[in-house]
Amino acid sequence: MDLNKDMSRIPDFYDLDVDERISILLKKLGFEDDMDLTSSIKSGLDLDNANNMIENVVGLYGLPIGIATNFLINERDVLVPMVIEEASVVAGASLAAKLARMGGGFQAETTSNEMIGQMQVLDLENIDNAKSILMSNKDVVLDSVKDLDPMLNSVGGGIRDLEVRLVQESTIGPFLIIHVIYDTCDAMGANAVNTAVEYMKPVVEDLIGGRVHLRILSNLADRRIARACVSIPTNVLSFGTYDGEKVRDGIVEASIFAEVDSYRASTHNKGIMNGVDAVVMATGNDWRAIEAGAHAYASRQGSYTSLSKWSVGVEGNLVGEIEMPMAVGIIGGATRVHPGAQAALKILGVASSKELSEVIVSVGLAQNLASLRALSTEGIQKGHMGLHARQVAIAAGAEGDQINVIADQMVTDKKVNVKYAERLLS
Ligand code: MEV
Repeated sequence: MDLNKDMSRIPDFYDLDVDERISILLKKLGFEDDMDLTSSIKSGLDLDNANNMIENVVGLYGLPIGIATNFLINERDVLVPMVIEEASVVAGASLAAKLARMGGGFQAETTSNEMIGQMQVLDLENIDNAKSILMSNKDVVLDSVKDLDPMLNSVGGGIRDLEVRLVQESTIGPFLIIHVIYDTCDAMGANAVNTAVEYMKPVVEDLIGGRVHLRILSNLADRRIARACVSIPTNVLSFGTYDGEKVRDGIVEASIFAEVDSYRASTHNKGIMNGVDAVVMATGNDWRAIEAGAHAYASRQGSYTSLSKWSVGVEGNLVGEIEMPMAVGIIGGATRVHPGAQAALKILGVASSKELSEVIVSVGLAQNLASLRALSTEGIQKGHMGLHARQVAIAAGAEGDQINVIADQMVTDKKVNVKYAERLLS
């Protein structure tokens, strides 16, 4: 019997209170007696940990963790922790994942875990000559750092290759760029790569002369790509007065808009990043790195375009695909020291950075589907307002049960604002 089957389906999860949600979550995961997990989910980081993370700490800044349900990724049910301040995102992901699982869920894959470290070499007499010296002495350069990180080597990672690129003309003259290819396995890898490229400086200068200037990892992690795709039968797309084929075709039209227009692509990709960043943050990973890589990748053909595409498949299904760099880790950095991040990884049940990447990119595609489905039918405000109204009710001073009562009334009356909430409250 497959114990994982339907694990991520929790009907009416939304209607439970926080303690009930945690209790059912732990039961689903088989961790019902894990008190540490409960407290890590609820309280996350403490001040002592925070004080060791950055400088000049004076406190903590809280954000909600929500659980997106219904995800089926590579035939595994996954409950997805998301850290985000924006209403509708967790609900949108859960809804899209529900539609996706009716077509067999998300199929996701990753390429390697290779990161790129860059070295800028200036003041060379002849950059073409320097390039051929480097290429014929590649082993000398690679060998110089091969024992730098025994830990990474022991799990199959480490230095892989070296590539050279030439900039023939620039305002500072011609220069050479070395790309150091480094397999960082289950780590995001910034520290390993930066250590290696800094260490290589004298080796490179001895070989080719010149002056090694910048030495730093590139966030355009295009050797560490995650992909996901989904195929959804048209009939499951229908809702309310919207016919499934119309919804499908509307999503395809919206997708083409983003493919050909950078203004739309930016917002389309923002919707994807709503899902991506929320899981990246929940797992203690560097969301600025992911953002930088995503948008650089979206521009790789010379103009900014969408990271995903939606089309009509052979059987008339709605087919979605996404591809983007995904430099995330499950060891090291905040992932290791933040109890909330440790809890998130435990909830996800991922055993490698590849698996985590596959979840993240699937959530990005789900989020994109939720946005496009709403935008091409009733618009996003209807769904958004219901959740937003709760925040407005709280801002007006509503507490406990009052919050939902006031929020529902504002949505019914189509007047979601603090003044009206205050009136209802009084
Ligand atoms: C809002 O946070 C995200 C959307 O704007 C994404 C999109 O337009 O595709 C709804």
